[in-house]
Amino acid sequence: MLFAPFAPDAHGSSVDALVRPARTDDLAACAALSQQRNGGDLDAWFGRLALDLEDPEAHLVIAEVDGAVAGHATARWLSFAAELACNVEDGWYLTGLLVDPGHRRGGLGRRLVQARLDWLASRAACVWYFAASTNPASIALHKPFGFAEVTRDFVVPGVSFRGGEGVLCRRAGSTSLAPTFALARHR
Ligand SMILES: CC(C)(COP(=O)(O)OP(=O)(O)OC[C@H]1O[C@@H](n2cnc3c(N)ncnc32)[C@H](O)[C@@H]1OP(=O)(O)O)[C@@H](O)C(=O)NCCC(=O)NCCS
Repeated sequence: MLFAPFAPDAHGSSVDALVRPARTDDLAACAALSQQRNGGDLDAWFGRLALDLEDPEAHLVIAEVDGAVAGHATARWLSFAAELACNVEDGWYLTGLLVDPGHRRGGLGRRLVQARLDWLASRAACVWYFAASTNPASIALHKPFGFAEVTRDFVVPGVSFRGGEGVLCRRAGSTSLAPTFALARHR
């Protein structure tokens, strides 16, 4: 299943986890989690995550439970080709959040969001993320951090939202470098 079923009243209990920057020896487990959820080629996932690990404009974090990777997530600078993108601006984005289904609802997702916001605190005036509108669990997770919907009328090159439209969100309190982008770049 791509998204966790929306269950607002099914609060779990806190999982004892270490949330930390990823290391090279975490990549195989992270890639396996990604492949398990998204399908595709394991080596391709490994390569994509290795890029996040090496890129100075990216921060890959993991949640470790009993010595094993139970979730991972990235914060990264995204730049978009103007001719392919619509209503999105280059900036710092939270991407690739994934928690092992066996460890969900134990606060790992929340901690992976917090860890990336902590890393971004000294780097970003503005933080973005996008999710599928059919993923209310993710939207509910991010909302208490101050993320609010900006638009559903946007295109991120290479990204499609299975089963619905996307929701582009910006963190309240963060200032956009180009607040009028939606009008300026709308096609
Ligand atoms: C979304 C996801 C990362 C949440 O991870 P998680 O570790 O289960 O989340 P947490 O336990 O930290 O939840 C924190 C809060 O988020 C909200 N939330 C998380 N999962 C939820 C769900 N299934 N239904 C409703 N609310 C949910 C709740 O408010 C929750 O607080 P509560 O448990 O006290 O009610 C996880 O379900 C997942 O990996 N899903 C598949 C990948 C995905 O959708 N990634 C996001 C792409 S934008």
